[in-house]
Amino acid sequence: MSDITGQVAVITGGARGIGRGIALELGRAGVDVVIGDLLSIPDIAADAAETVAMLEQLGRRATAVQCDVRSEDDLETLMGSAVKLFGRLDIVCPNAGICNLSAATELSVEEFRRTFDINTLGMFLTVRAALPALLEQGHGSIVATASITGLRGTKELVHYAASKAAVISMVQTLALELGPQGIRVNCILPGTVFTGISAAQMDKHGVPDEMKEQILDQVSAGTTPLGRMQTPTDMGQAVVYLCQADNVTGTSINVSGGAVL
Ligand SMILES: NC(=O)c1ccc[n+]([C@@H]2O[C@H](COP(=O)([O-])OP(=O)(O)OC[C@H]3O[C@@H](n4cnc5c(N)ncnc54)[C@H](O)[C@@H]3O)[C@@H](O)[C@H]2O)c1
Repeated sequence: MSDITGQVAVITGGARGIGRGIALELGRAGVDVVIGDLLSIPDIAADAAETVAMLEQLGRRATAVQCDVRSEDDLETLMGSAVKLFGRLDIVCPNAGICNLSAATELSVEEFRRTFDINTLGMFLTVRAALPALLEQGHGSIVATASITGLRGTKELVHYAASKAAVISMVQTLALELGPQGIRVNCILPGTVFTGISAAQMDKHGVPDEMKEQILDQVSAGTTPLGRMQTPTDMGQAVVYLCQADNVTGTSINVSGGAVL
């Protein structure tokens, strides 16, 4: 296992939710962090500032940069910020994503395209923007956030499931192409995590805010062998493992409490 102390990570969608969990666990492992997120949205900017403050409390250097993963210019600025501010780039976590429930019969072409633009093309563009710095250094670890939904069908998620299956596939091909240059590419497959995405999905089913977390946990308890939903910390710990595991590439780690086997 590699020691990742002193390394620098970029995390897209790192302001909140799973991205924050990844940022904090990498921070605990001694990694400095640059968050790329939609800072033009005030709530997201506030969440990003909070994540930066939490990382600084851990003794890490951290900053947040405006980045829409659909923009190659934003991604170039994001990767450039890591090198300019912290002197290097070692870890890249394409984590930004959206997931809006819709039955196939009602799904608009716009929503299908938006999901692929952010979850799938956004992941690829994030990796590509990081490559000049990673190739120059001759090493790097890329850990994307896919989903167990990419392994199986899920009702009302034909677009999302396909977008995440494509991420799992890209991880395999990128691992083949980049391994000889010292760059490993892996992904995590979260099960059910209480975040902005899952809270918004429950709005569609009329669940009151104060009951959302409890209901999600109860549903997970009934459908997973390990009996609880997953946390952003669970995801961060899996990412830290993949960053340290220097003979592991092209793989997906299922962090779902056994919900899919
Ligand atoms: N929550 C779950 O149960 C779950 C399960 C499986 C996979 N995931 C995946 O985890 C990842 C993180 O989601 P989350 O659950 O933490 O949700 P979240 O909504 O809390 O976080 C998503 C983050 O991505 C950012 N984002 C969205 N569009 C963006 C864009 N175009 N450019 C840059 N940033 C953008 C958001 O601002 C937000 O900070 C996503 O890829 C999601 O598909 C989540």
